[in-house]
Amino acid sequence: MRRKFIYTIGILAAIVFATSCQYKFIVEPVVPPPDPEDTIYFSQEIEPIFGTQGCTGCHNTGGTNPDLTVGNSYNSITSMGLVDVNDPQGSKIYYYPLPDGSHYAKYTSSQAAYILGWIEQGALDN
Ligand code: HEC
Repeated sequence: MRRKFIYTIGILAAIVFATSCQYKFIVEPVVPPPDPEDTIYFSQEIEPIFGTQGCTGCHNTGGTNPDLTVGNSYNSITSMGLVDVNDPQGSKIYYYPLPDGSHYAKYTSSQAAYILGWIEQGALDN
């Protein structure tokens, strides 16, 4: 009798435990794509992406080229020919780390849209 009671409590506890768990999905913050009318600034919107996405862990001064650290990234990506204003989508700095690609780190789709927009606007050092 007592045993049955303990089993019952145990089963109830297991059910409560199993159903009380809420799965938390990590939702990527929804950043709207850039407004084509707005100027995209390299220093404010593009360069910080390389730090945020962990690119600079490898792409740093003395590390793997291009050097994507703050203050060096613009010169590095332009001098290496990774930006082509005549073919924004064919620019390596855009397509190499695309979300569906296989590079070590990737852009979010919103970040990719910013990179592309910045190249389409002439890839300025602004
Ligand atoms: C774990 C280290 C690592 C991380 C993190 C990483 N990369 Fe790379 N990246 C490399 C290596 C190594 C190469 C050269 C070999 C290759 O092409 O895969 C490279 C190549 C590249 C190239 C091509 C350079 C060329 O000369 O053709 C670009 C562009 C690039 N990375 C951008 C990025 C960006 C942007 C990020 C962040 C979103 C990033 N990488 C994150 C290691 C890394």
